[in-house]
Amino acid sequence: MTTAVGGKERLAQVVPDAIAALHETLKRHDVREDEWMTVLQFLTEVGRADEFVLLSDVTRTSVLIDALSHGDEDAATASDVEGPLYVDDPPWREAPVKIYEEYAGSETGDVLFVRGKVTSTEGTPLPDAVLDVWQTGPDGGYDVWDERQPEGNFRGRFSPVDESGAYEFQTMLPKPYTVPNDGPVGRYLEAIGQHPWRPAHIHFKVTASGYKPLVTQVFFAGDPYLDNDTIGAVKDSLVRSPEKHDDHLTCDFDIRLRPSS
Ligand code: BEZ
Ligand code: FE
Repeated sequence: MTTAVGGKERLAQVVPDAIAALHETLKRHDVREDEWMTVLQFLTEVGRADEFVLLSDVTRTSVLIDALSHGDEDAATASDVEGPLYVDDPPWREAPVKIYEEYAGSETGDVLFVRGKVTSTEGTPLPDAVLDVWQTGPDGGYDVWDERQPEGNFRGRFSPVDESGAYEFQTMLPKPYTVPNDGPVGRYLEAIGQHPWRPAHIHFKVTASGYKPLVTQVFFAGDPYLDNDTIGAVKDSLVRSPEKHDDHLTCDFDIRLRPSS
């Protein structure tokens, strides 16, 4: 384990406490050899399947760490869990930004324009910010799972269009979907009776020189899973009500970044 802050000293503080809490739980439940070997086997499978981030998410540990890391940043846009589905080097998109290509299945979706301004918490426009967004298609799948979609579909990086920090991109309204549940974490969810659904959302990573990077998600009012997201990541301040127009929807989402100093 490496730690950004404190190094070995931090390790020596946190790990013995974590082990003591684990030992106390094992004693309280009188856990025996065969059960403990099952736990070790499960963790081995989680590692082999590259599902540790997913395990952290569905146990709501990621939400806790996000709150501990960013919980007091009132004036800034609320941060949220990144999840395991970010892909490095997403396509750069020029204005007018559209982050998808149509594919068989996409015709059932609603076109959505998301727009807003990127500013500092004091309201200074940040036209040189870079936004990086990713989401599922309108029938519930990420490009990395869905063979019908070209690589990089419903992903993109781009900058605001003018000096006011205004940005806009065209996408399609995502739908609720299940987190990957065909591996060891899926078996765990089934065993403890936790459903695998997430409410529809769009992920954002926003960076600007001199400001703290923001990772967050936007959700949509009326979604049946807002109150029971399997990773528990919904925050009221991140829920939006898209506005209906003749042949598309619009959704406003301003982004406020905190200075890094
Ligand atoms: C996601 O929103 O992409 C996600 C978050 C946690 C687990 C799986 C997927
Ligand atoms: Fe997601």
